[in-house]
Order: sequence, then C-alpha cells, then structure tokens
Amino acid sequence: MAQHIDGKLVSKKILENLSDEILFLDKKPCLAVIIVGEDPASQIYVNLKKKKAFELGIKSIVEPMPADTSQQELFNKIEQLNNDSSVNAILVQLPLPEHIDTKAVLEKINPIKDVDCFHPYNVGRIATGTKPYVYPCTPKGIIRLLEYYNINIEGKHAVVIGRSNIVGRPVAQMLLNENATVTICHSKTKNLADITKTADIIISAVGQKNLLKADMIKEGAVVVDVGMNRTEEGKLCGDVDFYNVEQKASFITPVPGGVGPMTICSLMQNTFDLYKIQNKY
Ligand code: GUN
Repeated sequence: MAQHIDGKLVSKKILENLSDEILFLDKKPCLAVIIVGEDPASQIYVNLKKKKAFELGIKSIVEPMPADTSQQELFNKIEQLNNDSSVNAILVQLPLPEHIDTKAVLEKINPIKDVDCFHPYNVGRIATGTKPYVYPCTPKGIIRLLEYYNINIEGKHAVVIGRSNIVGRPVAQMLLNENATVTICHSKTKNLADITKTADIIISAVGQKNLLKADMIKEGAVVVDVGMNRTEEGKLCGDVDFYNVEQKASFITPVPGGVGPMTICSLMQNTFDLYKIQNKY
C-alpha cells in the first residue's frame, strides 16, 4: 500500500518559513497577474493566488483585461510592468484568448520578472542544465515533494506523460538535470503501458481521468498525479485510477492535496526569490 505524498503539509511548512522571512522586510515583494478575458477556471486560480499572496504579506496587483484585448495592448501592459521597479514578478494567466499569440506574449516578459519560467531565456537555461532565475511552479513543486519524502531521482527511470510547456517538458528536463533516465510519452505514443511498466517514477500531466491504471505500473513505483479532472459527480480527480494504483505503488500523490498546493507555494516562493535577486540579497 502506497504512502500518500501530502502536498498540503509540505506546502504549509514551506509557506510558514516564507511568511517569517517576509514579515521582517520593510518593502514587500510584489506579484503582478494579468488575466485576459473571463475564463471561469482562470478567475478561480487568480483569486487563489491573490488570497495566498495577501496571507503571506506579498503585494499582488491583478490586471484584468477584456477578452477582445489586442496583442499590442497586452504587450504594452507587460512593458509597463517590466518598467515598474516596484513589481518583482509578472504572471500572464493562461490560456489566453485564441487571437493572441501566447509565445510572443511570454517573450515580452523581462526574464528577471518571469515568475512562471515561461520565457525562452529561462526555459533554455533549464534545457542546458543552467539555473534559470526561478524554476517553473508545478515542476518545482513536484521535485520538492520527491525531495521531502527522500525519494531518490538519480539513475531512476522517470516516465513523464504529457509534453505541455507548463508541466511535461520542464519537469522532464529538471528530472534529467537530477540524473534520472527520462522518457516523455504523449498522445501519439504507441505503447504507453509497456513504457510506464518500466518506470520507477511516473509523472502524469495529461488531464484525462483513469489514464493510469494499476496494470500499467510496476510494483513499488512512485506515482505523481498532476491531472485536474472532474468525476461524473463533479468531484476533483487526477489522471490516476487512485484506489487501484495505490495498492501497488510505493508513494502516490492524491488529487486534491498532492501537487496542487505545491504549485501556488512555488509561485509565492518564486516571487520572493525574484525580489531577492532584484534587490541583490
Ligand atoms: N494556467 C494553468 N497553469 C498555469 C500556470 O502555472 N501559470 C500560468 N501563468 N497560467 C496557468
């Protein structure tokens, strides 16, 4: 029976330390969040970020922009925040409306304020095994959870399912930098179960419930579930058939309460880290 990896507990500990450090600062770190349009999920996420920042003494500025905002107007807003020395961290909430070129927008953020680590400068640094200003929030949270539970990464076969720029690709690079042997699987992968059965560590970041079943993993595998899905009854669930997989795995992250709380925790930590870099701590 797998040990549950408790992201709520680990994030709480990290945030307590962070809060103590921020308490003594005269000038507080500042996170700016741009949200374009009215995607309901994005609005929930942005409100959560605002609330968490407030609890920690981090200043947050939310910049809502209408759904028909032009790319140029968004560029101008980013430029304004880049030039505002009181803003340490900039986050453009994704997804953006379809008429906007997301990659072009992310490239406008000054890399030293790129709290998500989505700018090609920072992404490229991870890809070359060089430190970015800060690491991307969800992958950083995953690595922290593995470290907290003393799960060794070096020499392990890590299988990442999903190749998104937010989770799959960066977490694969970061696991490689930790000396794992990494396989990336995606929607065109032909023999998914054959590959996952050889994994010591599986990271599933797809967004499809019951994607990973017990007969697809080896005994004692570590299973990290990044999926955010809903059951027919409307309950939050991940990509993993949790009840059956936990009988076979050695460690498993529940949904909710696993990776989710770590993402927002990394965002707060990253805001503080950028503040420290910009203020030459
Ligand atoms: N949308 C879903 N996840 C994320 C994230 O980590 N950062 C941003 N900016 N948008 C997101």
